[in-house]
Order: sequence, then structure tokens, then C-alpha cells
Amino acid sequence: MKVWTIANQKGGVGKTTSVASLAGSLVKRGQRVLMIDTDPHASLGYYLGIDSEEVSGSLYDVFLAHKELTHTLVKKHIVTTLVDNLDLLPATMALATLDKALGHQGGMGLVLKKLLSLVEDDYDVALIDCPPVLGVLMVNALAASDHIVVPVQTEFLAIKGLDRMIKTMELMGRAKKVKYNYTVVPTMYDRRTKASPAALQQLSEDYGHALWPDVIPIDTKFRDASLAHMPASHFAGSSRGVKAYDRLLDFLMEKELGHVKIG
Ligand SMILES: Nc1ncnc2c1ncn2[C@@H]1O[C@H](COP(=O)(O)OP(=O)(O)O)[C@@H](O)[C@H]1O
Ligand SMILES: [Mg+2]
Repeated sequence: MKVWTIANQKGGVGKTTSVASLAGSLVKRGQRVLMIDTDPHASLGYYLGIDSEEVSGSLYDVFLAHKELTHTLVKKHIVTTLVDNLDLLPATMALATLDKALGHQGGMGLVLKKLLSLVEDDYDVALIDCPPVLGVLMVNALAASDHIVVPVQTEFLAIKGLDRMIKTMELMGRAKKVKYNYTVVPTMYDRRTKASPAALQQLSEDYGHALWPDVIPIDTKFRDASLAHMPASHFAGSSRGVKAYDRLLDFLMEKELGHVKIG
């Protein structure tokens, strides 16, 4: 099972949209996909038509039970979506209290990794959606990942946020003596503006080595897709935005990421 985390400490850059779109494209290619929502706002669930306050359990329950995790327990909290082979471990508001409640306990940074190792044979790819904050959840997500996808909106303020995100990742990696592999993905690219091409230029100067050499265009179909509670791939399969995420998936797959086994 490959594990990819979609992270950026800035909100509104296209993290959740990237998770849903990559997931939809993966499913279309015959992959079994598990999405894990670590954002207490639970946008990914709402996007896919799942009300996080009405599900019987969530990622929070998995964290509470971190000392006695079993395959059955993890599966109990995973819900199906409208799309076959696309499952979700939902978030709830309670996740916002995780740092305070459990953050100080030892071993808390590896709960997601443990969880994923238990369902390793049930899915081909796991995609982790992150909150725009650095805390125990992001630490968990980074520690569990083979690769990190960092969506960044093509505008200057977002690039500022990116610098922080990359620094954080490098600091965390150094503490754990690992080097995180990441790909920076320019999103909401609007070629009619001056800001988008200028931001892209800046990105290629600063992150050339890690920059996906393409862009996700601005596309209203993404908003329509979330309204329809479907990944854009299943709602507007031939749209420019969906095709761009398909190319991103090709790129990520080609890097042959995730050949490192969890566990
Ligand atoms: N490529 C895009 N074109 C147009 N709108 C987009 C695009 N990507 C995301 N959006 C919209 O921007 C908003 C924020 O995106 P979202 O994925 O929720 O960001 P994040 O998870 O980083 O907060 C949403 O309303 C989403 O529909
Ligand atoms: Mg989000």
C-alpha cells in the first residue's frame, strides 16, 4: 500500500480537493483507496456527503484506542462513499482536542502508521488529508507517509506559507533522522492573471527540484463536484481540472513512490 499525505499549513490551497481528485482518479484506474481525514473541520467528509457528526466513529476513536488497535477496530470506523472502492476514515470536531488530550503521551506520533499497517492488505493507496496546523495529527501523517504532496495556490501569499511548511517538514525530518520526499503542486492556476505566472516562476526558482512541472488550473467544476458529493473525476471526467489531476497522478506513480512497506 502506498501512503501519500496532502499537506500545507495554509488553508484554502486545494488540499481537500487534491485528496478527493487523486482518489477519484486512482479508483478509476482500478485501485482500492482509503482516505483519512485528519482535519477537525471534516471538509473531506462533507465533500463526499458524509456528515461527520452523524458517523458512529471516527479517527478520534482510533486515537483514543491507540494502545489496543486491531484490524476489526479500525475497519469499524471506516465508512464507504458513493463511489465503489473509495472509503473514508472520517474526522470529527473532537480531533481538535487531540493535542491537549493525548499529545503528551509517548508513541502518539505513530498511531496513523500503526493504523495503516493494519489495513495494508485492504487498500492499494491511502491518502491523508491534513489540517492547516502543525500538531500531533500532521506529525502522524508525515511519519506514516511515503510521499508528501504540497498543494500551493499560485499567488504570493500562498508561497510565503509554503516556505514555512517546507521548513517545518525539514525540521521534523531532521529530528526523526529521515528525509521526507515531497512534491510541490501549483493549484488554482489562472493564466489570465499576472499573479499566477509570476508565482509559478517564483516557485520554480525556489523549489525547482521538488516542483511538479505542470499546474492544476482554476476550474469551477471542482466546486460543482463538491456540491454533488462526488470526486470531480466521477462528476466531470473530461474537465481540464480532472485531466490535470490525472497527469499529477501519472507523475506521482512514475516516481514509483511508496515501494517502502509500512511496518
Ligand atoms: N483548481 C481549483 N479551481 C477552482 N476552485 C478550486 C480549485 N481547487 C480548490 N478549489 C476550491 O477552493 C476552495 C478551497 O479548496 P480546498 O481543497 O478545500 O482547500 P484546503 O483543503 O487546502 O483548505 C474550495 O471551495 C474548492 O472547491
Ligand atoms: Mg481541507
